[in-house]
Amino acid sequence: MRIAPQRMSHSAQTDDFSDKPTAYARLARELAALLQGETDLIANAANTAALIFTALPEVNWTGFYFLKGGELIVGPFQGKPACVRIALGRGVCGTAAAERRTLIVADVQEFPGHIACDAASRSEVVVPLMAGSRLLGVLDIDSPRAARFDEEDARGLETLAAVFLALSAAAFPARPE
Ligand code: SME
Repeated sequence: MRIAPQRMSHSAQTDDFSDKPTAYARLARELAALLQGETDLIANAANTAALIFTALPEVNWTGFYFLKGGELIVGPFQGKPACVRIALGRGVCGTAAAERRTLIVADVQEFPGHIACDAASRSEVVVPLMAGSRLLGVLDIDSPRAARFDEEDARGLETLAAVFLALSAAAFPARPE
């Protein structure tokens, strides 16, 4: 019997993103199916990072930073090894987290305080992960092409973050009192 893992082909071939809203909607359905029934935080974060990495064209890093003890600490990701700790307000990730809004950076070299993990990264989009008013971390995507991300990418990635959070937010450690 031939076993065909669902997304095996995507290790070599990214999705068709010529119509981004349609592509992100399809990816959101795939992510929901992939995570369905599983609530483990690391498992879901790892599969979310891997799905985005294999589906999106022109990305070299996809993954999570989670808020722990008042700073961002790297979580499951795909790409080159990354800096582990980022203070709130520092770099693109720390700024998106502190301001609790999605940041699109067309040229990371122009972003004050940008933290270079992979020297190949030229543009970046960071989506804060919120559970109500509580900041849980960020979803971070890097590209080797300048101006790779637009508002459609930002909205699409916010949708993917929401799918991840819908199944995983309850698995985050309780907020320290
Ligand atoms: N460039 C990010 C750091 C994380 S790496 O891109 C994986 C930043 O400036 O916050």
